[in-house]
Amino acid sequence: MNEGALHSVPGADARAYNLVSQAYAELIPTAGREGDPEDEQDLAMVRRFAGSLPSGAAVLDAGCGAGRMITYLDTLAPLAIEGCDISAGMVRQARKAHPHRRFEVTAMSSLPYGDGSFQGVLAWYSIIHTPSAGLPAVFAEFRRILRPGGRLLLGFQAGTGSRRITTAYGHAVELTGYLHDIPETAALLEGEDFQVDEHLLRSPTAAERYAQGFISAGKSGRTA
Ligand SMILES: C[S@@+](CC[C@H](N)C(=O)[O-])C[C@H]1O[C@@H](n2cnc3c(N)ncnc32)[C@H](O)[C@@H]1O
Repeated sequence: MNEGALHSVPGADARAYNLVSQAYAELIPTAGREGDPEDEQDLAMVRRFAGSLPSGAAVLDAGCGAGRMITYLDTLAPLAIEGCDISAGMVRQARKAHPHRRFEVTAMSSLPYGDGSFQGVLAWYSIIHTPSAGLPAVFAEFRRILRPGGRLLLGFQAGTGSRRITTAYGHAVELTGYLHDIPETAALLEGEDFQVDEHLLRSPTAAERYAQGFISAGKSGRTA
């Protein structure tokens, strides 16, 4: 997608992340590096996700932000990783970090990829601004772009309810953060032909306000 099309995605989420993109890229360390927000158990889920994929597998980092999870995945396995994000500013940062990779500015509920394009989808803290009612549309897109047997890994703040976020990374923003319940999210995935095979509910660390949830699932072979 060219830069001229970058601002065609409306919405407060894109505006907010555009505003914070540079600070986000500077302040949030790559997963696995000192000071990152991930716990060892979270990283173990990512490692199992990477390890479950064949060498060279096509992987989409959906809601890639500034690309720090791509940097981490690159340390784990030789994968053909692409990224997408609703925020043009975040994609700009991701392109800076990964100039040779392909990125798209797009909402996860409407992905510009063909059916069965990927063997893996990572959605790491990118469903956190989507209410539960919006998740089936996102999961249906993940199912569509995955090959049968393809792998999906979700990371998110776990719980119920939502919160207004008015400051982030030194900027005034207007964002809503949604907590997702693990059994409910797993049921929504199963409704979209995913088979959930692992989940983790982790207690918050001292730096976190909420429990953290992770779900690993595979696309069943029932639909193309
Ligand atoms: C908390 S950041 C996480 C970024 C990255 N996955 C990471 O771990 O650093 C959330 C990202 O999801 C993106 N995002 C939120 N809602 C989205 C949607 N509906 N479609 C695509 N991207 C979305 C935001 O623009 C933001 O870059």
